[in-house]
Amino acid sequence: MGRMFIDDEMLETANRILASGQWIKGPESKAFGTEWAAYCGALSGTPCSNGSVALIAALHSLNVGHSDEVIVPSHTYIASATCISLVGAIPVFVEIEEDYYTLDKAAVEAAITPRTKAIIAVHLYGQPIDAEVFAIAKKHGIPIIEDSAQAHGASLNGQRVGSLGDIATFSFFPSKNMAVGGDGGAILTNREDLVQRVSTFIDHGRLDKYRNDVLGTNFRLSEIQCGVGRIQLKHLDGWVTRRNEIATIYSAAFAALEHVKIPKIRDGAVHAWHQYVVRVADRESFCAHLDSMNISTGIHYPIPCHLQPVYADHPQGVRGSLELTEAVCDDIVSIPVMPLLTDDEVQRVVDAVLSWTP
Ligand SMILES: Cc1ncc(COP(=O)(O)O)c(C=O)c1O
Repeated sequence: MGRMFIDDEMLETANRILASGQWIKGPESKAFGTEWAAYCGALSGTPCSNGSVALIAALHSLNVGHSDEVIVPSHTYIASATCISLVGAIPVFVEIEEDYYTLDKAAVEAAITPRTKAIIAVHLYGQPIDAEVFAIAKKHGIPIIEDSAQAHGASLNGQRVGSLGDIATFSFFPSKNMAVGGDGGAILTNREDLVQRVSTFIDHGRLDKYRNDVLGTNFRLSEIQCGVGRIQLKHLDGWVTRRNEIATIYSAAFAALEHVKIPKIRDGAVHAWHQYVVRVADRESFCAHLDSMNISTGIHYPIPCHLQPVYADHPQGVRGSLELTEAVCDDIVSIPVMPLLTDDEVQRVVDAVLSWTP
């Protein structure tokens, strides 16, 4: 499901930065933040330790805290929800759209209460969320955090994700569309009032070396990783193009299959295809069939957030709370779509799926 891209430029960069002795808070961090923000069309970018703390920093910057409600899909990676609990707020889980696996706009609007302090909009699998969710949030004066951990290079109506909401978070975990040679993340914003709140929060709340002006901690990203990220960024467009090529081949090959439901692309969207996710009639047999042909599969994710043991005491923490989400989690499968797949490997995946019968 994943294959690392490592080239000489990345290795030379890592060596150069190591030898320089400047391992944190140097030119690479500044340049990576600026270049990543420019790529996404945002005002400012701050590299940070990973995509999970990026979400915490985003919530903190928006003053989300004790007893506030935050709307979030349950069909996402757990970090999209636990960040809310970690700042003392309450996740309000909502349904997804069946076609796109992202926030359902009607469900979002129905979940808004006077206590709603933010919406975490997850561009799951690389599919940008419905533009109307931004309109709903604006109408109610509620900020949107784009959880773009899976959507590097995706866009909606010509605008890249990461610049669509109030604040956006990214992960550079090794298997993501773009990586930094370890854990890594970034926080982007277009709001002037949030720029300094974010950059100080991830660096002990200081504006000056010995003065800690506001509450903060250390969520910084190392110089080596920022340098590696800058090299990876040069390849990102090519990788997103290749992911789209592979997805197009799969969708054409599987379109007529009765037992495999292919994913759709939202109108006006460029999908980043972090995952190519199908729904199948019998997941166990599908995965076993591909496995027997030496093709790996994944499930993103088998347990929705509201049914994770960590949320056993949450009012929505019972089966039946979100029926569509639960049904989707029961029959989704991710098949390999990484850009380093060769044409022969893509064909092997196609043949394997076509030769499966439930
Ligand atoms: C949607 C989503 N949000 C947040 C995260 C957390 O990112 P990280 O693993 O870098 O902490 C991930 C990572 O898998 C993710 O997929």
